[in-house]
Amino acid sequence: MKLEALPVSKGNYNLNSYEEVYQSFDWKEAEKEFSWSETGRMNAAYEAIDKHAESFRKNKIALYYRDPDRDEKYTFKEMKDLTNKAGNVLKNYANVEKGDRVFVFMPRTPELYFTILGAIKLGAIVGPLFEAFMEGAVRDRLDDSGAKVIVTTPELMDRVPFDQLPNLRHVVVVGENVKEDDFYIDFLSRFKESSKDLELEWVDLTDGLLLHYTSGSTGKPKGVLHVHNAMIQHYQTANWVLDLKEDDVYWCTADPGWVTGTVYGIFGPWLHGASNVIVGGRFKPENWYQTIEDYGVTVWYSAPTAFRMLMGAGDELVKSFDLSSLRHVLSVGEPLNPEVVRWGVKVFEKRIHDTWWMTETGAQIICNYPCMEIKPGSMGKPIPGVEAAIVDDQGNEVPPYRMGNLAIKKGWPSMMYTIWNNKEKYESYFMPGDWYVSGDSAYMDDEGYFWFQGRIDDVIMTSGERVGPFEVESKLVEHPAIAEAGVIGKPDPVRGEIIKAFIALRDGYEPSEELKEEIRQFVKKGLAAHAAPREIDFKDKLPKTRSGKIMRRVLKAWELDLPTGDLSTMED
Ligand code: PRX
Repeated sequence: MKLEALPVSKGNYNLNSYEEVYQSFDWKEAEKEFSWSETGRMNAAYEAIDKHAESFRKNKIALYYRDPDRDEKYTFKEMKDLTNKAGNVLKNYANVEKGDRVFVFMPRTPELYFTILGAIKLGAIVGPLFEAFMEGAVRDRLDDSGAKVIVTTPELMDRVPFDQLPNLRHVVVVGENVKEDDFYIDFLSRFKESSKDLELEWVDLTDGLLLHYTSGSTGKPKGVLHVHNAMIQHYQTANWVLDLKEDDVYWCTADPGWVTGTVYGIFGPWLHGASNVIVGGRFKPENWYQTIEDYGVTVWYSAPTAFRMLMGAGDELVKSFDLSSLRHVLSVGEPLNPEVVRWGVKVFEKRIHDTWWMTETGAQIICNYPCMEIKPGSMGKPIPGVEAAIVDDQGNEVPPYRMGNLAIKKGWPSMMYTIWNNKEKYESYFMPGDWYVSGDSAYMDDEGYFWFQGRIDDVIMTSGERVGPFEVESKLVEHPAIAEAGVIGKPDPVRGEIIKAFIALRDGYEPSEELKEEIRQFVKKGLAAHAAPREIDFKDKLPKTRSGKIMRRVLKAWELDLPTGDLSTMED
């Protein structure tokens, strides 16, 4: 269904006519904005921080930070010094060198950002982890990547299974009174005494920058590697889509454990020398509105689950804050309901601009630009320099309104460079015709707008987090009471989807509410809170194929009262 278009917003100097720029744009031209196109020397952290610290922006605020205990701000010059110091700690005490995998596992504090950028200055590859990860999730990622160093806090350190990680050389601990030895390094003390000068590691376009682990429908989480070249697209999209201008105060609510929190929480804004707001602590609607009011946030990038929660907190609450600074609001991560877009128009007097991309695409791909009409419910159109299409399973483009695979023509700058240690998996993303296949189904309308329909695989999106059902099922069957488990995403009005588990118990175990709670805690402690099933149904037996694969599609059909489809492969 086509929903009404809203008025086009004004004031975009960068992309006034989408069609015009789409026709003429060339990535090679865009590279000329960066000095490395002449010098051949590059480092994304230099482009994000040092460059501005050496320019007229030197005393401009780069980072506004706050959480319940801290309230700080840093200029670009200070950011340069502090990221250098963090780099020196990693270099001099943890022997970090170019290409090393350095993981960060800590709350969103300024030290997290100093560390990420400091590591990148050394040419290291940064692997960000969610604070919510428990031991199993941490181990899988550090083990697969052969991580050499992890930077963490005393509170989270217990979840790093050091004895199972032979490649891990150092744990850098950000906390008070840290005891040091060959293995542990006291970040804060070393940071204090470290020099503000650091020799930057100049790298090649294809040297590693970020390693984001993400979930698929099968197997363990996979490490999506992004390289320094990606920053061209970080830069261009922050220009066209975030529409960043010199005086903007920008706030991206995402955690760097998620690709949005690195690409648009670090690079997008800072490649443009924008003032970037970072807020630690838990989500609370009143704090969020207070943040916008206090900092005069002009550009705000968040996610549908958050908008739905704000919507749930009521319109009265919005009215008690001054949000008039807001100029541009964007969303990513899950389908943005038309209802939420309409709510945004009503309460903020702003359209919420949906953007579509994935960990693997490394930057925004399909977007609603400030200069274009929005069709609420549509993800928008591809960015200039990117060709998107709906293709069938053979890679043939299908006509408008026909549903199919959302595919992108290979070769955009921020495309994942590889899947760590898994070339086969990397190759499995591509189809004849050089199409990268997203795993999403969608259709395109006759005006070239793309409409999201769902995931083709069983990947669950819960509160914007991508959860692989296999990972949850694997954890569940480690529980002594569980013989078999099948996990699906069940539609939920606030969270998009919630995790629902179907469980067959071993002989000798009886279903009970206590057991459900125990199972939930088991996944929470073993994997992560967001991966724990909110709903559990006990079954005598689960639907399986003859080869023994749990048929999630059948579970989903049962749950949603849908036709089960072809059951020919199901065991008797
Ligand atoms: O299913 C799509 C959904 O999120 C998936 C990618 O998840 P992740 O790699 O965690 O990255 C999320 C943010 C970069 C996609 O395959 N998704 C993302 N954006 C949208 C979306 N679904 C609908 N509308 C969107 N705007």
